[in-house]
Amino acid sequence: MLQQFGAGVAIAGCGSATPDTSMSNEAMSRLVDTSDEWIASRTGIQNRRLARPDESLCTLAAQAGQRALAMAGIAAADLDLILLATSTPDDLFGTASQVQADLGATQAVAFDLTAACSGFVFGMVTAAQFIRTGTYRNVLLIGADVLSRWVDWSDRRTCVLFGDGAGAVVMTATQEGDRLLGFELRSDGSQNHYLNLAYTPQEKPLVDDITIGQGSFHPITMNGQEVYRFAVKRVPEVIEKALFRANVSIEQVDWLLLHQANQRILDAVADRLQLPAAKVISNMANHGNTSAASIPLALDEAVRQGKIQPGDVIASAGFGAGLTWGAAIFRWGR
Ligand code: UT7
Repeated sequence: MLQQFGAGVAIAGCGSATPDTSMSNEAMSRLVDTSDEWIASRTGIQNRRLARPDESLCTLAAQAGQRALAMAGIAAADLDLILLATSTPDDLFGTASQVQADLGATQAVAFDLTAACSGFVFGMVTAAQFIRTGTYRNVLLIGADVLSRWVDWSDRRTCVLFGDGAGAVVMTATQEGDRLLGFELRSDGSQNHYLNLAYTPQEKPLVDDITIGQGSFHPITMNGQEVYRFAVKRVPEVIEKALFRANVSIEQVDWLLLHQANQRILDAVADRLQLPAAKVISNMANHGNTSAASIPLALDEAVRQGKIQPGDVIASAGFGAGLTWGAAIFRWGR
């Protein structure tokens, strides 16, 4: 039993799940005033998967989690912690516990973590703290989002960008060396208005002079150009800082694994870091922007395709609403 401080983190398995329904750019152009040419050339997206009304966030998250557990060879009953990074829970009180029940992870404590498109990277660092302190041995980290629930489907500036999905990794304690090599997390709430899904209260008088607010959440609103500028400037910075902390040079990076928001952002960040295009993981074309799911979904596809090999060094970074951004440098595998 591991009861000491000083445990390292291994990333022992990954998995993903996406809805069956696919929506092409051509179909999108029948919904709003857009074209395949505009979407593909400005974003790199060709298709996105969308959840049906009967498909829940919990189902996708649990499927991704199950596949990650199978790859890691760890039983759900041996999990100590489940972290669900999501901005689109089935239940505002949290969905992680439902995932825990679905998986039969009876010994695990489970909670949601909200940091939009940075959620997976923030979650990876959070999970690592529990492992490094010797508190927990086996953690399932899931990034999952069903943003289609919250997109304004009449707004061509946003609706063409997003897709639904889930990705997961199993992180375990090891004495063989710590595979989370370095990280850096950042927030800037003063720029929150550039990308949000805000709650708007409406006055509801109760009795006497007691009035409360009871409203609803807006559809997603975004100033695309500002978020683009933010990403292209801040993401290389945060990766460089995390690499410095990890004592890893850019030449030692095998893969750049960014939040899949826009192919132009991936290209610009790689360019600034002077990383060749062959080292950039991208599944933008098939999935669009799946928010907290995008990094583990792209990781899982690249691992199962045999691209990412055990021991490879991955520079990953998430960025988005909050605004939040962060990088984690890790070595794939046990
Ligand atoms: O996950 C969270 C992080 N999010 C991001 O990283 C998103 C960052 N931003 C972006 O990826 C890009 O800014 C977008 C893809 C959202 C937009 O690309 P852009 O090159 O910045 O386009 P733009 O907003 O400057 O718009 C250019 C033109 C405008 O028309 P006018 O004003 O020049 O006549 C838009 O109205 O393109 C128009 N436009 C569209 N046209 C056809 C905007 N959306 C569409 C569309 N189809 N879907």
